[in-house]
Amino acid sequence: MIAWIGGRSVGFDDVGSGDPIVFVHGFPHRRTMWASQIGALVDQARCITVDLRGFGESAPDGAMSMDSYADDVIALLDERKVDRAVICGLSMGGYVAFALWRRHPERVRGLVLIDTKAGADTTEAADKRRAMIEQAKQRGSAAIADAMITGMVGKSTRAKCPEVVDAVHRMLESAPVPGIVGALEAMISRPDSTPTLATIDVPTLIIVGSEDTLTPPKESHAMHQAIPGSRLEVIEGAGHVSNLERPAAVNHVLSEFLASILLA
Ligand code: MLT
Repeated sequence: MIAWIGGRSVGFDDVGSGDPIVFVHGFPHRRTMWASQIGALVDQARCITVDLRGFGESAPDGAMSMDSYADDVIALLDERKVDRAVICGLSMGGYVAFALWRRHPERVRGLVLIDTKAGADTTEAADKRRAMIEQAKQRGSAAIADAMITGMVGKSTRAKCPEVVDAVHRMLESAPVPGIVGALEAMISRPDSTPTLATIDVPTLIIVGSEDTLTPPKESHAMHQAIPGSRLEVIEGAGHVSNLERPAAVNHVLSEFLASILLA
């Protein structure tokens, strides 16, 4: 579906009923990456997915930063008349979840942090992103997809599930260049969220693929140590997009977590 918010198109879906959970995709993804989670959870929760500015069906207008992405999510929640929701972010979606927690904690019922990390970019990482910006501008999204696919998907998935690798590659190459460039700039300038972790006082589930090389399990262990009362689940045999690589395993822990929140 499309909402018009502030004169700008925002791609989203809103299905199911009950307590809401909002799914925020990573880079350079789109909201359709959550299809399996929606299918599994729709009888348990109101599931809202959103395309971040410049991805999927959301227009690329305006400046992009983790703060502006977070405010876009809140604008969609306002439009959907949702006061408070569990925020589930994968990778860059996790960076957005941290910004959302800093800026709008009263809107956050719980957090699910999937294949993400708290730290800001190192100088080397920022330089790599600048090179990627040039690559995207000169050679387009397909070049970005080719460069990213190996890191995006775990080695077990690459060996055993070529159809998943193909589907992820198609998603990456369909990302619009303005969205890619805006997100890379936003990630370069994102703050270190490490100090934020100790402030999180809502139920938090951390999920990571055991074969994630982009945001490796040690990053999730560090977040787990720093977020009071958080729960950590390692998904064996999954890489950086664990929800696409081992959807049943991710859906199971998500469902358990939501049940524990809804009963609490
Ligand atoms: C993502 O999947 O969102 C990106 O890999 C995050 C990043 O590059 O830091």
